[in-house]
Parts: sequence; structure tokens; C-alpha cells
Amino acid sequence: MTIVNVLKNWLLALHNHCITYFPFFWLRKALQTSIYRISIGYKTKIESGLVIYAPTKIVIGQHTIINRNCTLEARGTIKIGDNVSISEHCSFFTSSHDPQSADFAWIKKPIIIEDYVWIGAHALLLQGVTIGKGAVVGAGSIVTKDVEPFTIVAGNPAKQIGKRVTELTYTLPV
Ligand SMILES: CC(C)(COP(=O)(O)OP(=O)(O)OC[C@H]1O[C@@H](n2cnc3c(N)ncnc32)[C@H](O)[C@@H]1OP(=O)(O)O)[C@@H](O)C(=O)NCCC(=O)NCCS
Repeated sequence: MTIVNVLKNWLLALHNHCITYFPFFWLRKALQTSIYRISIGYKTKIESGLVIYAPTKIVIGQHTIINRNCTLEARGTIKIGDNVSISEHCSFFTSSHDPQSADFAWIKKPIIIEDYVWIGAHALLLQGVTIGKGAVVGAGSIVTKDVEPFTIVAGNPAKQIGKRVTELTYTLPV
């Protein structure tokens, strides 16, 4: 491991064990955008306890809220839209391994969250999924496949349990 990689890992640990618990969201946001190069939009609020991997591959839109103790593993890139509400203890993992590969091949696929999505507490999103505009992911769900716009899914694996209204007018934080 090169000295550069050691320093990068140390800097990431500094965020994930320390900076992420600093008081004041605006202070954390200033450090997350300047030092860690996360792209975070206007009026977007990230609560404490966020754990990040590959922060330069995280893009978050405007008026979005990420509640406490979420994990964003973004080696395969994570894009989160505008007016998205992500509840506490959600985890997004863009990396996996091919269980059929002899050399434990690493898989990286992007996770995309479109505008007005609401993700319930403790949801887990796996590599490669797109959550369509206005969709809802129920608390504790494990999402392994794309979710159509304005669809409500829940369970493990997450399946459709309903549809959401399509006329959404709110601006977060409400
Ligand atoms: C997904 C959610 C919005 C669904 O609400 P809803 O559309 O009103 O759905 P219902 O309560 O009518 O439930 C419909 C069915 O889905 C099931 N269901 C609802 N939420 C579920 C969940 N999270 N996981 C598994 N099944 C769920 C219900 O048991 C019900 O099953 P049934 O038809 O066999 O009885 C809600 O259940 C939820 O998970 N909210 C997130 C809460 C949360 O995270 N709060 C913290 C931040 S605000």
C-alpha cells in the first residue's frame, strides 16, 4: 500500500469516526464538500453519523435530507436527486463480488435515486439499483432490483405493495 493510500484511508477514517459527529450540519457540510469533495446541493441537510466510502463519487441534489447513521458506499457511484428523504440507518452498497468467479471478482454498479424518493428507516439498497422518481421504499426493505417511478415497495426482497400519488408539490425540509 502506498503512502498516498494510507493517507487517504486515514482521512476517510477521520470523517467516519470523528467529523461525522461534529455539531452543526453546516460545519459538517462545509468539510464534506471541501475536503471530501462530496457534491452536496443547496438546502440539502445531512444529519450526523454518515459513513462514506469513495466520497468523490457521491452526488446529492438540492432540498434533500439524509437522516442519522446512514452509510453511502460509493465505489460504483451514488447519485441522489432533489427533494429526496432518506430515513435513519439506511445503507447503500454499490460494490459486491461475483460468487461464481474463481478470483472473487469485484463488481461495482451505480445506485441512482431520482427526485422525490422516500426511503424508510433501515432500508438496504444493493449495487446497480435505480429508484424511480417519487417511489417509496418501506422501512427495513432490501432492494435488489430497480423500482419504477411512484411505486411503493417493501420487504426482503422488496416487492411492490402499492402506488404513490404522482402530483408531488412539497419542498424539503417541510
Ligand atoms: C412503506 C410504507 C410507507 C407503506 O405504507 P402504506 O402504503 O400505507 O402500506 P400499508 O400500511 O397499507 O401496508 C400494505 C402492506 O404492505 C406491508 N408493509 C408495509 N410496510 C412494510 C414494510 N416496511 N416492510 C414489509 N411489509 C410492509 C403491510 O404489512 C401490508 O401487508 P398486507 O397487505 O399483507 O397486510 C410504510 O409501511 C413504511 O415502511 N414507512 C416507513 C416508516 C419509516 O421509515 N419512518 C421513519 C422516517 S419518517
